[in-house]
Amino acid sequence: MAKSLILAIDQGTSSTKALLVDEDGQVVSRGLAPVSESQPRPGWVEQSADEIWQSVRRAVADCVGPAHAAQVIGVGFSTQRESLVLWERGTGRPIGPLISWQDQRTGALCRELVAAGAGPVVRSASGMPLDPMFSALKARWLLDAHDRDRSRARAGELCLGTVDSWLLSRLGGEHVVEAGNASRTQLLNVDTGKWDERLLELFGVPCQVLPRVVASDGPFPAVRDLAPLPDGVPVLAVMGDSHAAMFAHAGWRAGVVKATYGTGSSIMAIGDCGDAPGLCRSIAWDLGGPTLAVEGNIRATGRTLSWLAELFGATPEILLAEAADTGGVAIVPAFGGLGAPWWEPDATAIVAGLTLGTRRGQLVAAALEAIAFQVEDVVAALERATGEVRVLLADGGLTRSDRLMRLQADISGRRVARTGEHDLSCLGVADAAGLVAGLWTLQQLERRPRTADEYTPVSDQAERAARRAAWREAVQRSRPVPA
Ligand code: G3P
Repeated sequence: MAKSLILAIDQGTSSTKALLVDEDGQVVSRGLAPVSESQPRPGWVEQSADEIWQSVRRAVADCVGPAHAAQVIGVGFSTQRESLVLWERGTGRPIGPLISWQDQRTGALCRELVAAGAGPVVRSASGMPLDPMFSALKARWLLDAHDRDRSRARAGELCLGTVDSWLLSRLGGEHVVEAGNASRTQLLNVDTGKWDERLLELFGVPCQVLPRVVASDGPFPAVRDLAPLPDGVPVLAVMGDSHAAMFAHAGWRAGVVKATYGTGSSIMAIGDCGDAPGLCRSIAWDLGGPTLAVEGNIRATGRTLSWLAELFGATPEILLAEAADTGGVAIVPAFGGLGAPWWEPDATAIVAGLTLGTRRGQLVAAALEAIAFQVEDVVAALERATGEVRVLLADGGLTRSDRLMRLQADISGRRVARTGEHDLSCLGVADAAGLVAGLWTLQQLERRPRTADEYTPVSDQAERAARRAAWREAVQRSRPVPA
């Protein structure tokens, strides 16, 4: 008899990926569709919501052949988080572009709210610092731009949604959002799992414009218009991408700390650490009840390399092959301000230590160092909240770079365990969907090996301390000079 298959779709910032996973957890095929972004003004980052939906259709068509389509028993979605779309309920048409999680247009609004003393209430209710990365300020901006008096929002004519919410509405016409994604909007109360009245008031978001919050195992609308899948295949699980990667590491076990190296990076552990300085408290997933996570987000890790690639008209792979020593060059990639643990929206990106002899291999080396230093800054903050972190589990496209993994171990002074599957978000949501379908249990998932190899630090403590001090000095230079 033909095996049952799970189709997992990961809608990320730069591409949509699809995987077919069989009932033994083996990947049987893959699909990929790139997604573009635009920067119409300095600090603005937009994507097309329609292009995102079409990229999902293309990735699925690329992954699922007609022979496999009938074996698919369910679908899982993992999605980029915090990015926000506004659309018309009646027509389903987006109003303007999606505002990316990377977008900084709401910096001034953010500063106004901070000056008005809103920071502490936002932090305690949402679990996150007031920052343009989260969806709340984008919601306010979109409604100010398209429904200034909120009359259409209150009349239920408009829908706001994160990427999961947008895709689910395209699939089944329902306006819902998965709990983990909802918790990253900064409009949800992280303790009650409900939209928070004080936050809605503060950000000027009427509740009628928001989706209904549902658990990570739904109920979700079934698949429609996703050829070659037949209409009606159930969506079994939805998760934020970083949360799905955590799930793939069987991250519900005590002591697991992971770093996902994507466009940005997310370092996460499961548990409730209360108000940990520099870190966020959010819902990882809701499967039979909410599970909390402590997380630090870095805005630009892979994006630093792709920026250099754009600058030099090369691919990140070509650049990685050229990485030399830094030659004294330091990059602080605060393109959209600095995220965790600094949370400095007004920091600016800097390149320091250039000479006439600087070559691009040195810039690439400095970019890799910046990635590793930023990750270590967050791991150290997490360690202060959760206890010693001996091993860092690493996933994401950038972990293909042996050099980065070696550098991470040396800069951190910790073992770095790399996964065999780099795109772990897809696998994680396949794990969750298969769990919902009864294909496997949590105990079986814990026995599934995900680590391919491990890097042990060779640096000594004095060397690490000196390198970190130089990095901290560079970070200091990227921060705004106090008035
Ligand atoms: O928080 C933003 C994050 O979810 C985006 O992930 O993989 O698209 O860089 P990625």
